[in-house]
Amino acid sequence: MVFPFEKWASLYSSPFNEQFYQDIAATLLGKIKGHPRSILEVGAGTGAATELLQRRYPEASIIATEPVEEMLKYCQKRALPGVRLLPLSAGELAFLGSRFDLVLGNICYHWFPRGTLKILRDILAPQGQLALSIPIQVREKADGNLILLEVARKIKGVNRPGKLKTLAQLRREFSPLFSSLWIEAHSVEESHPPERLTLLLRVRGSFHFLFGEKGAEAEKMFLEMASAHKQINFRWNFALVVARP
Ligand SMILES: C[S@@+](CC[C@H](N)C(=O)[O-])C[C@H]1O[C@@H](n2cnc3c(N)ncnc32)[C@H](O)[C@@H]1O
Repeated sequence: MVFPFEKWASLYSSPFNEQFYQDIAATLLGKIKGHPRSILEVGAGTGAATELLQRRYPEASIIATEPVEEMLKYCQKRALPGVRLLPLSAGELAFLGSRFDLVLGNICYHWFPRGTLKILRDILAPQGQLALSIPIQVREKADGNLILLEVARKIKGVNRPGKLKTLAQLRREFSPLFSSLWIEAHSVEESHPPERLTLLLRVRGSFHFLFGEKGAEAEKMFLEMASAHKQINFRWNFALVVARP
């Protein structure tokens, strides 16, 4: 699979974009109980959330994993004492064994292939916690979300890498695998001129995730429609999940 993140790693690592991811990661970290000593991060990207993990749990042993080399390079440039970086996808983690007090994935679970959830559960220690922030679809939509929906209506025959789930769908997916599940919706609203919003949607992988090989076409259409506005609101919706095996 070709990830959009290979192409856009440098833009992804801009302070404005990383702040967006760090804010979500900080909210997720606020839901984690206790003091995990052995931590694994999946889909660590450029290390935005890794940095927060390291600052919050300086005594812990942390492994951060990320399959896209271009993203991992930015992780390597950070000063992250005690953090081991591994070039692995979420599907490749089973060999690490059941030993992590915390497995964290910030805005990456939606990219994982089916069946990955069981792998993430199985690498947790018996009292461990899986903490994920996952983009979801909700009814409430801002102007930018409505334009994206209109683009989806116009673009036919899309072979989508993914489709966002609802909170209820996630709850049904997680409940059979975990004895304890806390799941809550969270949203962040941003307002940008059309060109900037379009760039952010590209860098965050949205066009690729929703429209696959037609991502560039979708982006062009989005920008054309968005250009009728000076400033556009966009609502990012997430589920915050903390689960125990
Ligand atoms: C939106 S970025 C989030 C990165 C980081 N967690 C953050 O908070 O900035 C999604 C990340 O998931 C990674 N990813 C996509 N598919 C993956 C997979 N199957 N296994 C592990 N990581 C994956 C991407 O390479 C990308 O770095």
